[in-house]
Amino acid sequence: MTSNAIESVLQETRKFPPPAEFTTQAHISSVEQYEEMWNRAKDDPAGFWGEISQNLDWFQPWQKVLEGQMPETKWFVGGKLNVSHNCLDRHLTTWRKNKAAIVWEGEPGDTRTLTYQELHREVCKFANVLKKLGVVSGDRVTLYMPMIPELAIAMLACTRIGATHSIIFGGFSSDAVADRNNDAQAKLIVTADGGWRRGKEVTLKPAVDESLAKSPSVEKVVVVKRTGSDVTMVPDRDYWWHDLMEGTSADCPAAELDSEHPLFILYTSGSTGKPKGVLHTTGGYLLGAMMTTKWVFDLKDEDTYWCTADIGWVTGHSYVVYGPLANGATSIMYEGAPNWPHEGRFWEIIEKYRVNIFYTAPTAIRAFIKWGDQWPNKYDLSSLRLLGSVGEPINPEAWMWYHRVIGGERCPIVDTWWQTETGGIMVSPLPGITATKPGSCTRPLPGVVIDIVTDKGESLGPNQGGLLVIKQPWPSMLRTLYGDHQRFKDVYFGKLDGMYFAGDGARRDEDGYCWVMGRVDDVLNVAGHRLSTMEVESTLVSHPAVAESAVVGFPHELKGEGICCFVTLKTGAGDESLKKELINHVRKLIGAVATPDQIRFTNSLPKTRSGKIMRRLLRDIAAGRESVGDTTTLEDYNILAKLRDEE
Ligand code: PRX
Repeated sequence: MTSNAIESVLQETRKFPPPAEFTTQAHISSVEQYEEMWNRAKDDPAGFWGEISQNLDWFQPWQKVLEGQMPETKWFVGGKLNVSHNCLDRHLTTWRKNKAAIVWEGEPGDTRTLTYQELHREVCKFANVLKKLGVVSGDRVTLYMPMIPELAIAMLACTRIGATHSIIFGGFSSDAVADRNNDAQAKLIVTADGGWRRGKEVTLKPAVDESLAKSPSVEKVVVVKRTGSDVTMVPDRDYWWHDLMEGTSADCPAAELDSEHPLFILYTSGSTGKPKGVLHTTGGYLLGAMMTTKWVFDLKDEDTYWCTADIGWVTGHSYVVYGPLANGATSIMYEGAPNWPHEGRFWEIIEKYRVNIFYTAPTAIRAFIKWGDQWPNKYDLSSLRLLGSVGEPINPEAWMWYHRVIGGERCPIVDTWWQTETGGIMVSPLPGITATKPGSCTRPLPGVVIDIVTDKGESLGPNQGGLLVIKQPWPSMLRTLYGDHQRFKDVYFGKLDGMYFAGDGARRDEDGYCWVMGRVDDVLNVAGHRLSTMEVESTLVSHPAVAESAVVGFPHELKGEGICCFVTLKTGAGDESLKKELINHVRKLIGAVATPDQIRFTNSLPKTRSGKIMRRLLRDIAAGRESVGDTTTLEDYNILAKLRDEE
């Protein structure tokens, strides 16, 4: 093993073959079919993707599937299409015209269902509103909204006229809005008075007002009335959505856009420095979102599909809106928190709409475990046929709980690895054919060529941890970082020549299954052993008392780095004897090298708003340093102070 490889210590031998009934009906139903697709896509990407692209409606056919090499690639060159046409209009000439496209549930319990025809009408009207307000093709439009149908309508309206949307998660501050407005030079913002979260209003319009003082490019503001709270409306700048929509024509032909037309910008935080404006384009992104939705979720017309992600994240873009709608599916959209008005809200929604496919994040799953089995056990979850996970490595014990308590031991679980930058799922089980292993995202999808390499780019063998790279371009890859192409090249392609480096560590086991070990920035180096934080965390979570844990290194005189474990318990407060027990538990399951130096019990961990643990901040606490660097994505600022007090 090379010196910079990451040692893997996680032992996981459980394996779950797909149920035969699932395989029989699946879109991809044999390993041979997968292998044939995968090899074809690797050896003849143009032939493979050219054929697959026929799943989209093109106004003008492309001349060339792929032009250029990573990092500078163009897909479906010369082709013209429109995303809103592909998500809406083409279904209107089929039986799907009156099928539910979006089934929305507000946190207070209000509901709204939009059929494809109704959604189409709203989108066309709002596209005309945007035009009336001076938005033209190529302009950037910021969407800073709660999880309400108007957000999906606004996205699709932008795509209809060729405006590039930039969605900012509704929990971000006015400064974050101003920075992103400035970076994108946005011309217009769509927002709301506020939205509902845990029974309280999260206001949005006041933050927009504040941001506008610092982001002069924005000329107009459209405000959806959601909560009815008081807002200040500035004449000739601010307009109510409902006023603008009234009397507006629903006739708005979809613009014929170039395949490489900028579809959206989505800001994602780097560990330091200003957020990166990941840019996705039209044809390649939509094809990726559509096909991965179909393959990975095995989506069928009769399914009711629910991805719980907020549309402010890429998961919501690709798997609440674009992927499902391009497939003509019924997509559930829920406004609020999973524990409001009670901890069974998600399970209640599954029972109510008879949800078949459910896609959520490990951070949520760990919270469900903490809240207790009595919540899911109260509801009928028998409609579920497939479960998904995204956003972080899922700890094997959390996987097992999901499988047993939510999936009733009958639903395959797709643990999907991907990133904002990849646009769509890259590595994931295919539920009809993959024997899953808890904690592994298994094998790459057709068209995805990955490797695990050293920092010199040399391939590593089975069970050697290293850098997860992608070696062949794929249609839904990011094209640039908005306004900073050099940074795009440096960040993703600067480390290893000709390869996209994702920032994650991983290993492949003897079956070729991929195990993501977390961000390489988080790797521990204990007495010369490079260990994955995720593996120590998973071992802690396998102890019955532990709900969640975050492991970081801190400077240690003898070992270089010591191991500090922040632990939240399922119930009660920890004591010295539990600390000893946990230390022994890790030592027994992993070995002496991973023996924790410190266990710190805490009630909560600092997380980004999308649920990822911010280990960087915990490293500062473990080392007794003040936190420096960007904390704008932190969900709850008080947690840092609390963690320091709990020392
Ligand atoms: O570290 C990986 C982790 O989340 C990162 C991407 O985050 P983001 O751009 O916010 O996109 C989230 C939705 C795709 C990755 O670099 N990650 C995501 N999914 C998984 C994962 N880590 C392990 N297993 C996954 N299934």
